[in-house]
Amino acid sequence: MKKTYYNFIEGVLFVLEKLVIQGLNTLNGEIAVHGAKNSALPILAASILNGSKNLLYNCPRIKDIDCAVKILNRLGCATKQNGSIISIDSYSLSGYDIPESLMAEMRGSIVFLGALTARCKKARICYPGGCEIGQRPIDIHLEGLRRLGVIIDEEHGMLNCRVDKPLTGAKISLPFPSVGATENIMLAAVTARGETVIGNAAAEPEIADLADYLNKCGAIVRGAGENTIYIQGVAELHGAEHTIIPDRIVACTYLCAAAITGGSLLVKNMNPLHIEAVLELFEQSGCRMMTEPDRVHITAKKPPDPIHTARTLPYPGFPTDIVAPMTAIATIADGTSIFVENIFENRYKHVAELIKMGADISVEGRAAVIRGVDRLYGASVKATDLRGGAALVLAGLAAEGTTYITEMPHIDRGYECIEKSLSSVGAKITRLCTP
Ligand code: UD1
Repeated sequence: MKKTYYNFIEGVLFVLEKLVIQGLNTLNGEIAVHGAKNSALPILAASILNGSKNLLYNCPRIKDIDCAVKILNRLGCATKQNGSIISIDSYSLSGYDIPESLMAEMRGSIVFLGALTARCKKARICYPGGCEIGQRPIDIHLEGLRRLGVIIDEEHGMLNCRVDKPLTGAKISLPFPSVGATENIMLAAVTARGETVIGNAAAEPEIADLADYLNKCGAIVRGAGENTIYIQGVAELHGAEHTIIPDRIVACTYLCAAAITGGSLLVKNMNPLHIEAVLELFEQSGCRMMTEPDRVHITAKKPPDPIHTARTLPYPGFPTDIVAPMTAIATIADGTSIFVENIFENRYKHVAELIKMGADISVEGRAAVIRGVDRLYGASVKATDLRGGAALVLAGLAAEGTTYITEMPHIDRGYECIEKSLSSVGAKITRLCTP
C-alpha cells in the first residue's frame, strides 16, 4: 500500500511531497494558463457583499482559492466548486470572524476585511499570513478603511472592526499604490454613502477585474486599472456571473520555462497586454516573441542573453512576482544580469537554493547580480516561497541531472498542478509522496 507522509508548514498540516525533475529537456508545444489567483481572491471576498447568488468561471484550482472558499463556508455562505467554476450564495452569511488558522494560510485573506465590515458592520480577524517576502504591513488598508468610517481596535494581533455610523465615501490618497489596500477600500466603498475617490491607487489588471465584477453586481466604479478610482456608493448589490482573467504571473512563468530550456512554446489563454514590461525583458534575453490577443508564442535563444537591469515597479512596471522566475533564466545567460527589487525587501530567499544548483549570484540589499554559468546541476532544494519555488522548478528544467524540490505547498498556493502543465510540453517532472 502507498504510504502518505505529512508535515506542518506555518502551522498547517500538508501531505509531504516533492517534485523530481530530470533536467535538460527542451520544452515544445502548447500550454494553457489558468485564472488569476490575485483576481479570484478579492472577487470571492466581494461575493459576500451582495447576499445573493454568484457564479465565477475560470477560478484556479490552487490552495489559496481552497482557503478562500473555506473562509466563505466558515462565514456561513453556501459554496460549490466544480472544477474551475465556483458558485457562492452569500445570502446565508452569518459570521463576521475568520479563524486564525485560515487567516494564517495566505496574505490574500486580508481582503475579506473591507467586504465583511461593509456587509456585517463588524469584523474580527487577525493579521494575515502568506509568503514571507517582506514585512508586509497593513497600515494603508486600515487607514483607508478608517477614512470611510470603520472603527478599528488592534489588540494582541487581532483586529476588531465595527461600523457605528453608515460608511461614508471619502477622498483617500494612498501613500503607496498597494494592491490589497486598493481592493479593501473598493470593497468597503461600493455600498458606502456618497463618492469615494482613491488617489495613487494600484492599477494592476486584477483591480480592473474586481471592478468589472463589482459593476456587474450593480456597483458604480470608474477608473479601475488607472491611478485614480471613482466609486459612487449604491444602496445594495445583486449577484453576478463573472469570468476571472488569466493569471499573468503563471503566463510569465511558462514563458520563462521555454526561455530557460531553449524551447518554443505557445502560451494560450493569457493577455499579452498585461505583461508588456515582461515581454520587453524576454526580447532583451534574445527570445522571439509573437503576440496575439489571447496568446504569446515564444522561441528562445540558447543560451539566453543577459538582462541588463530590471527594476520592479507597481503595474504597469516590471512585476515583483516575476523577479524570482527571471533570476532563474539569468543563471544560465551569456553574461551578467542585474535585478533591483523595489516592492518587497525579501524576494531573494530562493537565491541560496539556486546557488546550491551551481548559480553564481550575489545579493546586496535590493539588488541581485547574476553572472551566467554554463550549466546548472540538479540538487535537493527547498521552495522558500511561492515565486521562489517556481524559480527552482525552472532551474531544475535547465539543470544537468536530477533536482528534488521540497516544501511543495508554497508552489501549490499559486500554480495548478505545475508538474502536469510542464510535462505536457516535454518536461520530465513528477510529484512523489515521500519524506
Ligand atoms: C499583491 C499580490 C502579490 C504582489 C503584490 C505587488 C495578492 C493576493 N497579492 O500583494 O502577489 O506581489 O500585490 O504587486 O494580490 N504596504 C505597506 N502597507 C500596507 C500595504 C502594503 O507598507 O498597508 C507595502 C508592502 O509592504 C509592499 C508594498 O506596499 O512593500 C506593496 O504591497 P501590496 O501592493 O499591498 O501587495 P499585496 O496586496 O500584499
